[in-house]
Amino acid sequence: MAQVKITCRKNGPYRVEAPEGTIELVDADGNAYDLTGKPAFSLCRCGASVNKPFCDGTHSKMGFQAAEAAVKKAEEGTPSPGA
Ligand code: FES
Repeated sequence: MAQVKITCRKNGPYRVEAPEGTIELVDADGNAYDLTGKPAFSLCRCGASVNKPFCDGTHSKMGFQAAEAAVKKAEEGTPSPGA
């Protein structure tokens, strides 16, 4: 069984769960984020968090829809060919 579990929350962040010390999160320059005491954390995927790369809950205030929900909605609104 994998030690790291990443859950795509419905219309929310990526929830990362891993035993402490088994995962490293770094910025674009390779600087590590301090994950001490954090066996789980959430990564923003809506782009609106003021605490990136972590989720700060803003996604729920702005009505973020994850890609799979947005694609489904777009497909429902798209007329079928020949219609
Ligand atoms: S996913 Fe939560 S603030 Fe972006």
